[in-house]
Amino acid sequence: MKGVILAGGTGSRLHPLTLITNKHLLPIYDRPMISYAIEALVKSAVTEIMLVTGGTHAGEFLRLLGNGHEYGIDRLFYAYQERPGGIAEALGLAERFVDRDRVVVVLADNVFECSIRPAAEKFATQEKGARILLSKVSEQAHLKHLGVPELDGQGRVTKIVEKPEDPPSAFAVTGIYFYDADVFDVIPTLEPSNRGELEITDVNNHYVRQRTMEYDVVDGFWGDAGESIEAYYAVNDFVRAHGANKEIPGT
Ligand code: DAU
Repeated sequence: MKGVILAGGTGSRLHPLTLITNKHLLPIYDRPMISYAIEALVKSAVTEIMLVTGGTHAGEFLRLLGNGHEYGIDRLFYAYQERPGGIAEALGLAERFVDRDRVVVVLADNVFECSIRPAAEKFATQEKGARILLSKVSEQAHLKHLGVPELDGQGRVTKIVEKPEDPPSAFAVTGIYFYDADVFDVIPTLEPSNRGELEITDVNNHYVRQRTMEYDVVDGFWGDAGESIEAYYAVNDFVRAHGANKEIPGT
């Protein structure tokens, strides 16, 4: 399975910090944010990775990561997104890299307390389709800024609503997505959303309609450090106190 890390976008919710650097190069405790996404993949035995970024600080990633070997990456590729056209558009740039293999996509502003390895292992045994990771979020106001699944109570997602006015459950769709090779046939069929982006939620709803979307609920903390300056500091505080990408014995 290949790994794709998405680190483009404008980072406008963290202005003015992101006027002078890329959001994913900002520190989370003692390292640049991007290194947590890399660690999540490498700990799941995904060591062929493409980093997609954009904007005016793309060169800094090369300076930080080089060929990736220091981070445990075997082969590190880079792609440049000309404009922030959405998460699904950014993923589309990795089509030739993924080359009909399976892929795990990581949004580089997401940080997890626990390793995603158990989910990667379950996806490896899944015959086809996609897999998402959900996190319990109890505040309605928070859910309105995220993708939220509707669940049927019998282990299936029935739809996902992006930035819902009226959240259909108390779970968020986190920024880890597992896909089979069909994902690159779905992306060209998407239409831009109201915010002018190709939405990853539309990709996920394709798999929901096909009834090939599976999910896991993550253990421990999950944070989107790009959501607001408050969220950025909440993720920093959590990681400083408790660490990230930890292996849970017995999983
Ligand atoms: O964090 C989880 C949430 O991420 C999900 O619950 C939502 O369903 C999903 O749409 C996404 O929502 P956000 O509004 O937080 O996405 P954002 O625009 O912040 O983009 C997240 C990351 O994706 C960002 O850190 C970099 C990457 N990205 C984003 C865009 C728009 C790109 O690489 N290129 C892009 O054009």
